[in-house]
Amino acid sequence: MSLKTKKLLLWLLGLLLLHCRAQGKVHYYDFVVKESNFTKLCATKSTLTVNASFPGPAIRAHKGDTLYVNVYNQGTYGVTIHWHGVKQPRNSWFYGPEYITQCPIPTGTNFTYQVLLTEEEGTLFWHAHSDWSRATVHGALVILPADGTTYPFPMPDAEQILLFASWYKEDVMVLMDEALRYGGLTVLSDSYAINGQPGDFYSCSKDTTFRMWVDYGKTYLLRIVNSVQNTDMFFTIADHNLTVVGWDGSYIKPLKMSYIMITPGQTMDVLVTANQPLSHYYMLASPYFDGQADDFDKSITSAIFQYNGNYTPPSSPVWPTNIPGFYDIGAAALFTTRLRSLASKEHPIDVPQSVDTRMFVTVSINMMRCPNASCAGPDGNRLASSLNNISFANPSLDILQAYYRNISGYFDENFPNKPPNLFNFTSDALLTDNVTLSDQGTRVKILDYNETVEITFQGTNVMNSGENHPIHLHGFRFYVVGTGLGNFDNMSDPLTYNLVDPPEANTVPVPKDGWATIRFKADNPGVWYMHCHFDRHMSWGMDTVFIVRNGPTEETKLRPPPAYMPPCGADALAGLQQTIFQNEE
Ligand code: C2O
Ligand code: CU
Repeated sequence: MSLKTKKLLLWLLGLLLLHCRAQGKVHYYDFVVKESNFTKLCATKSTLTVNASFPGPAIRAHKGDTLYVNVYNQGTYGVTIHWHGVKQPRNSWFYGPEYITQCPIPTGTNFTYQVLLTEEEGTLFWHAHSDWSRATVHGALVILPADGTTYPFPMPDAEQILLFASWYKEDVMVLMDEALRYGGLTVLSDSYAINGQPGDFYSCSKDTTFRMWVDYGKTYLLRIVNSVQNTDMFFTIADHNLTVVGWDGSYIKPLKMSYIMITPGQTMDVLVTANQPLSHYYMLASPYFDGQADDFDKSITSAIFQYNGNYTPPSSPVWPTNIPGFYDIGAAALFTTRLRSLASKEHPIDVPQSVDTRMFVTVSINMMRCPNASCAGPDGNRLASSLNNISFANPSLDILQAYYRNISGYFDENFPNKPPNLFNFTSDALLTDNVTLSDQGTRVKILDYNETVEITFQGTNVMNSGENHPIHLHGFRFYVVGTGLGNFDNMSDPLTYNLVDPPEANTVPVPKDGWATIRFKADNPGVWYMHCHFDRHMSWGMDTVFIVRNGPTEETKLRPPPAYMPPCGADALAGLQQTIFQNEE
């Protein structure tokens, strides 16, 4: 066959595949990552953004669509962009976590992400996944129902994105460098923000408080994203009920509440009807903290739910009587334990009823020794965090490439199915070296294609530092089959599992001194990161990686890499990488 005929055949095949894959549309976006100036809290700073906006641009597409996002890095350091909560079947190459599936996009270069929207529907978000640049590099990702389908609830009259973030007067990257260099606690944020605005309770902020204008009688779909750096948030609107209808890009059974609790990495779809007397009502996002360490920004960000019409507004917007206090563990649990998936004919679920691989993973704050006790943590140690007592260390060559090219020396395949020691995980006396010190390593867990996996996360109170950890898994949407307080009891607790209509999610809150169990089927070959969605815990090592082996057919194998991937540092492969990719062309 001549080269020409071959090419023609390939082209026809391509067309055919494109046609079969989806009826979805293809969208193209340009993301220019660069520094821009913002003035907040009476101070101006320059910070990294996409297209000079904070929050960054929202993407709106339909289920089944494909996105091509060309990221131009005009900033001063390498970055990556991550499509949080998108499954991306067999498409690890475009997932974004630095040193896991790619190396950062160097300054002055660009990289185009291909994002395959397949099963998810509702609200997700995109964010930088390199160092702590997520702080100001993030935006909503709205996935509307596929053409010809509709919401499983009455069509709302309008919708509104509400994106929560943290604001630091100082440069977040400088703060990170200092925290990680000296090993001590991280600096707290100076404020939280709703859609980029701190709101009425911070200095120099009142004029720019975010206002959501509403018409009496209309129902609004709120698309809520928590991209705060290190804090869970309660959210409420004065005098208005919230009906939660979606969680992490799946619909759920409507849950009527006066407030919600949302962790970093979680997204929620919430209906609210403007059915109260015409006035101005506060919308508050207020921190939730269940630990003893008391190390969080204790301020409240606000926006205003403001009716259109002719009336005299109150001197100050109506205050919510139902916003839970910062430490209200009961209020948080009451909310998180009541979420249920739709499990209907149009929105079926597929909870694994049997389990091939069972893992028990402790989630801890720890320490590591420093030479001459020279670090800024307790007793001159370095603060760390771990899963099964291993503090994850980023390799210098991304794990995906090392795995795909069979290059040894960058990771070990021995992430354990249980912690090295069993102890009373929730005790107040976990202060001795045998429990406080973690091991550092780049250990991954290998899974066979299509095996069913159950993970029980056990929060520990090591160093009296237990707190809620939002554990996030890439590449999958898992079912949260159970959660509870205290040490997990492997006899009685599994009896409480919900295998009928558990919620489907990408981020699960593991409560302080408690546990949460998830199940998923390893049907997505590739390399997938799992980490706490508090950035400081992620940087301290509360992470690991799953590698799902290829299945038997072409359609069950990791897709081939694109012709170009951002190069890894000179220390990683010394120029070898570029040659490898060029050879593949
Ligand atoms: Cu939203 Cu791995 O992150
Ligand atoms: Cu954490």
